[in-house]
Amino acid sequence: MIRRPRRLRTSKTIRNYTRENFVHAHDLIFPLFLISGENQKIPISSMPNIFKLSIDNVLMEIEECISLGIRAFILFGTPDYKDEKASSAYDSNNIVQLAAKAIKSKFPDVWLIADVCVCSYTDHGHCGYIREGKIDNDRSLDLLSKMAASLAKAGIDTVAPSAMMDGQVEAIRTNLDKKGHEEVSIMAYSAKYFSSFYGPFREAADSAPTSGDRSTYQMDPGNSDEAIIETKLDIEQGADFIMVKPAMSYMDIISNLSNSFSIPLVAYNVSGEYSMIKAAAQNGWIIEENVVHELLLSFKRAGANLIITYFAKEYLSNRSKE
Ligand code: PBG
Repeated sequence: MIRRPRRLRTSKTIRNYTRENFVHAHDLIFPLFLISGENQKIPISSMPNIFKLSIDNVLMEIEECISLGIRAFILFGTPDYKDEKASSAYDSNNIVQLAAKAIKSKFPDVWLIADVCVCSYTDHGHCGYIREGKIDNDRSLDLLSKMAASLAKAGIDTVAPSAMMDGQVEAIRTNLDKKGHEEVSIMAYSAKYFSSFYGPFREAADSAPTSGDRSTYQMDPGNSDEAIIETKLDIEQGADFIMVKPAMSYMDIISNLSNSFSIPLVAYNVSGEYSMIKAAAQNGWIIEENVVHELLLSFKRAGANLIITYFAKEYLSNRSKE
């Protein structure tokens, strides 16, 4: 036999040298859930080892993450008050804005990303402004662009619009530039699907809609060509990063976008994906460390450049023990 692929698998050293894809600390973005108060560390029952943290504890958490090599964080807030206009989302005293200031003054080199969506801030839990029982897309753009500018002012480096409103990237870019935040970049949740894998997150962010669902704005899971259209629009409107969310069940979309576009592509390994693996591991049905390594590698192999994952910290702390 002339061709024997097994020759490249004969030793661990050769296997390492011929591996095509790797997971590095600087591929990983760690989500942080913020709440007001002091010394708060509230567990999220469906997401073992993930907590809602007050600012003092978030600073400690970031210090620990930095020691493991994580330098990028995406922030989510549970606000002190909610109303129909999501006023707390663009209040300079909102927990995310306050945390951003505190984090940047202690750790100026970290990369701070903030989710831009109003579902945690509206009293009805939808991602936009509701008029006569329907989402008012263009009015929602005002809320989202105000929120983005307020976050930028607080020191956020990158805003990540996830509301799936048409034109949101353009509206946010325009307002950021108008307010002098030309250097703040946009990580667009371009292909964000109407998925049941977000359940645990909604417990964490207290963001479930009180009635109806998100099917009129998030993408239908049966569609793949539409992901190209959505992403193209976001790039035309000024997205600096594009994203696929969820990640595990949407590897084909990650691969399609990676082949179609050449700007940094982010995979969001969402809460439900985290919880499923945790639950199986707690039952002794899988070996978590190995499964997580394989999972993160598969996102890279599919074409993701960056991965938002709740596993980031545990993954790197297990790896540092090796
Ligand atoms: C806000 C938002 C959601 C997630 C990230 N940003 C929830 C949703 O769209 O309902 C989900 C993240 C996760 O499940 O880990 N819209």
